[in-house]
Amino acid sequence: MYQLLKNILFKFDPEFDHRVVEFCLKNFAPLPLIADWMASQFCYMDLSLENEVEGMHFYNPVGLAAGFDKNATMIEGISLMGFAFAEIGSVTYVPQSGNPKPRVFRFVQEESLQNAMGFNNDGSSKIAQRVRKLYPYKTPLMISLGKNKEVPNALKNYEENLKAFQDLGDAYVFNASSPNTPNLRDLQNESFVRELFAMARSYTQKPLFLKVCPDNAIDVTLKVCESAISGGANGIVATNTSTDYSLVQSPKNIGGISGRALRNKSREVFYEIAKSFFGKATLISSGGIFDGEEAYDRIKMGASLVEIYSALIFQGPSVCKNINQEIANLLKADGYQNISEAIGVNVK
Ligand SMILES: Cc1cc2nc3c(=O)[nH]c(=O)nc-3n(C[C@H](O)[C@H](O)[C@H](O)COP(=O)(O)O)c2cc1C
Repeated sequence: MYQLLKNILFKFDPEFDHRVVEFCLKNFAPLPLIADWMASQFCYMDLSLENEVEGMHFYNPVGLAAGFDKNATMIEGISLMGFAFAEIGSVTYVPQSGNPKPRVFRFVQEESLQNAMGFNNDGSSKIAQRVRKLYPYKTPLMISLGKNKEVPNALKNYEENLKAFQDLGDAYVFNASSPNTPNLRDLQNESFVRELFAMARSYTQKPLFLKVCPDNAIDVTLKVCESAISGGANGIVATNTSTDYSLVQSPKNIGGISGRALRNKSREVFYEIAKSFFGKATLISSGGIFDGEEAYDRIKMGASLVEIYSALIFQGPSVCKNINQEIANLLKADGYQNISEAIGVNVK
């Protein structure tokens, strides 16, 4: 069914398609008959998948990665596609329109995307109002906080952004790893990250995460993670998109690559992080996860949760259910009663 729809959707510009999907999820998914139908089609329940992570209850380990619902307009539709949680945003303190279009590209054969969106979003004030209307949420809601493009003081900009969402996020993810805001990735340095989390801790006791890029030297990434954790972060989301354009055959010269082409790079970086921090911090894996086998591998490598984005574009709304069914089968085959027993078993 989605193959047919995909043939039509993929004839159009990715951002146009995204707007169509957003319109449908925003306006139709909450209607009772459609909501019931979506839940019956796309949600998968199995006790073996349920887990508590950082005080939040997750009925399965698969969440929607940041960037799909930048403006928090699709939260109900996202849960109805079977996701156990969503990372909305990245939101910036002040609204911004992002980079010039076109800024998203598909590589259909490689099931990969390249995007240079540049944090286009409605801004913290409007998005916070939207989110407030849905509180209390049906599933945990993480808020991804980005930085405005041009600001005199990055820390202050993140601070204002966090303040706008205070008490609204079940958790917050600080994103200093998007390649599409000039110099943003430079903020992945030990002293800034320590200050960032010390600042955030002074406002909230909710779980805090740092999302890292896959492109820095691994010792740099590990030091930055260490600073984040010692500064007050509960965990790390690894990874964001990659600026290694050799990952796809005919890359554009802007933005970051996601999807299957990112899988190996992302899992390597995740594993290095897990070897250093599993047991000390909560780890969330994102990057090139398309099936239950890959998701289960990341879980055994130390991920308490996984996040997907590109797989939803290439495989459609059943992807979350398929991944969860597969994880439940793999858990059973390995003799585990619950996912919590499998997390980190392969970390050496
Ligand atoms: C179009 C697009 C926009 C994205 N925007 C954001 C964003 O605003 N913030 C963020 O932290 N990550 C963003 N990402 C990165 C994803 O959250 C995810 O980490 C990355 O795509 C790797 O996962 P995937 O291979 O499953 O897509 C974006 C990805 C895509 C494809």
